Amino acid sequence: MAKMTVKDVDLKGKRVLMRADFNCPLDEKTGEITDDKRIRASLDTIKYVLEMDAKLILMSHLGRPKGKRDAKYSLKPVARRLSELLNKPVKMMDDTIGPKVEESVKQMRPGDVILLENTRFYPGEKENSPDFAEQLAKLGDIHVNDAFGTAHRAHASNVGVAKYLLSVAGFLMEKEIRYLSKVVISPTHPYIVILGGVKVSDKIGVIKNLMKKADMILIGGAMMFTFLKAIGKAVGSSLVEEDKLDLARSIIDEANEKKVKLVLPIDCVIAQEMKSKTERRIVDIEEGIPMGWKGFDIGPKTVEIFKDKLQNAKTIVWNGPMGVFEIKPFSEGTHAIAEMLANSDAMTVIGGGDSAAAVERFGLADKMSHVSTGGGASLEFLEGKELPGIASIKDKEM
Ligand code: 3PG
Repeated sequence: MAKMTVKDVDLKGKRVLMRADFNCPLDEKTGEITDDKRIRASLDTIKYVLEMDAKLILMSHLGRPKGKRDAKYSLKPVARRLSELLNKPVKMMDDTIGPKVEESVKQMRPGDVILLENTRFYPGEKENSPDFAEQLAKLGDIHVNDAFGTAHRAHASNVGVAKYLLSVAGFLMEKEIRYLSKVVISPTHPYIVILGGVKVSDKIGVIKNLMKKADMILIGGAMMFTFLKAIGKAVGSSLVEEDKLDLARSIIDEANEKKVKLVLPIDCVIAQEMKSKTERRIVDIEEGIPMGWKGFDIGPKTVEIFKDKLQNAKTIVWNGPMGVFEIKPFSEGTHAIAEMLANSDAMTVIGGGDSAAAVERFGLADKMSHVSTGGGASLEFLEGKELPGIASIKDKEM
């Protein structure tokens, strides 16, 4: 169901209460933002609201402050960064709700921007308390939800407020829904899903859901060793989820039944330790990994096979790195796949979290059709779950 967006409402002169996901990583020592991607991702919506002559009241959580004020999680650094990006003042509030905030909002003129303090300084945020939601809702005439990264949480500032105010999507939310719905519901074929990361258990929901539509699933990352062990291969001392071997076997069987090709690596990069200055070898899976050695990346033959399979794809979803891409000797597999996708004509959708971090690290994020800003949210979307922070946005009338 299509959702109403900022384009469907008249914002002129209105108090726009906008929920963004400004949950950015901070430098532990300086407290400054180390990656402003999430702030930049909401700029289109922010600028549009301001162009429409509205008064913009922004809110977000940052970190997990446990329902009470904690200076470490103040949104002040976000206000500073946003002000630089917008090239205009962003007034930082000392509080999230209450008379002082209400007074500041009353003083606002069209084009002004206010940022409320961390919504998670109040327990009512995570509890989705109607009272806290109502206090927030008092500050606006309309609610704009651009916080895709938080869409898997039913909290007061994204879901609760929608009981009191009309809630419409911002451009980031709209784009995330458009791309992720496309790959979950109506992908263009051939459709290939690339899955990696450490644990099969983290990806089981995604595998099962995307298997309904995919033509092929390529498996990399440490989770490949659980699959390889499940089919009797010698994986040495590689990370294996011993209690998930049956599950891996049942996934292989299900793929066969559904005629989805599940492709496992035929070689991998091994070492005795996960560090950059260490002896590194490449072994064929048939040959087996010796005890004392662990696999940390897919090997060059696997990269060639994956590239060959990906060549004709029209839709590609990638969730989870192929190896320990943060450490140079184990980054080649992930890098090669990222390059392949960057140069592909297919629609390329990158799940948030580690795979998004990988394409960014290689400077290839701009070459993808879409890189999700949500880690947990994109995973749950790909699992086929209804996200509360999307369900609460008003449906567009047909
Ligand atoms: C995220 O970074 O995934 C979102 O901002 C949600 O944060 P949370 O996992 O602390 O709810």
